Amino acid sequence: MLQTGKQVLKKASKGGYAVGHFNFSNLESLKAIVQAAQNTNSPVFAATSEGGIEYGGVDYLAAIAKIAAKNAKVPVVLHLDHGKDMRYINAAITHGYTSIMIDASSFPLKENIRITKKVVILCHQKGISVEAELGCLQGIEDKVSEKESIFTSPKEAVYFVKETGVDSLAISVGTSHGAYKFKGRSRIDIARIRLIKKLLNIPLVLHGASGVPHSLVAIAEKYGAKLGDAHGVSDTTYRQAIAAGINKINVDTDLRLAFDAGIRKTLKENPSVFDPRKILGPSTLLMTKVIEQKMKVFGSAGKA
Ligand code: G3H
Ligand code: 13P
Ligand code: ZN
Repeated sequence: MLQTGKQVLKKASKGGYAVGHFNFSNLESLKAIVQAAQNTNSPVFAATSEGGIEYGGVDYLAAIAKIAAKNAKVPVVLHLDHGKDMRYINAAITHGYTSIMIDASSFPLKENIRITKKVVILCHQKGISVEAELGCLQGIEDKVSEKESIFTSPKEAVYFVKETGVDSLAISVGTSHGAYKFKGRSRIDIARIRLIKKLLNIPLVLHGASGVPHSLVAIAEKYGAKLGDAHGVSDTTYRQAIAAGINKINVDTDLRLAFDAGIRKTLKENPSVFDPRKILGPSTLLMTKVIEQKMKVFGSAGKA
């Protein structure tokens, strides 16, 4: 069933667990997300970034996600990830998204508030939930530009939420987007999460939160990938972050790694295979397993 971000996160905040956010830009990743949610009886965010929309088309992506949500017994939130340009935000509204992230975090506080407030008013009129970001995460993705990491100030967070009326807040506490987050052990500012949660008591969001599991990196590398010193967030760190107040965890890179590892392995081991369904099927299964494992660690399994 299709639900809003607010509906799903209110329960998570009360229950002390986190709901996984997974990015999709094709049928395979969307199917893996919803199948994993069904298999673990978990709520889930299925999200498209601006780059994902450019790739898949907002009409196609929204249509498959809404059909999957309608057929699913678990809550599915259709979410716009890192909405920066009003064109994508308006398109998401038009196509029935139930949650929108406005990311004006690269602007100074006053401008971030002004832009966020405008989007909150627009979305709330239509019953759509809004996530915003305060502080800056490092990292480079397609449309998520390179930024200096600036941790979220708890004092500013209180002011920001009061001024904007957002439903949830993405905070910067040491993670970054992509596959190269930490040198060695994952470390994030748990005390900062705890303090912000205490002051705000609204659902907090952790971006740049892929685990970059060694098992996936190893498969991809065995079959030809060159990933170097890739490191992500450990299961222990997830648990600490959730206990401190995180209720939504954003994962994209891990699905990319699973997709890549599955394709490389299949093609290498089956050189005569050229049917796309046989090439992509194992990747879909691998992504499903990765997502199921996350749902168990995040504590959302069994909470649908
Ligand atoms: O938050 C970052 C996501 O991984 C989006 O990446 O802009 O390449 O789709 P993308
Ligand atoms: P990762 O690159 O760690 O998967 O982060 C994804 C994300 O934050 C999407 O908004
Ligand atoms: Zn992000």
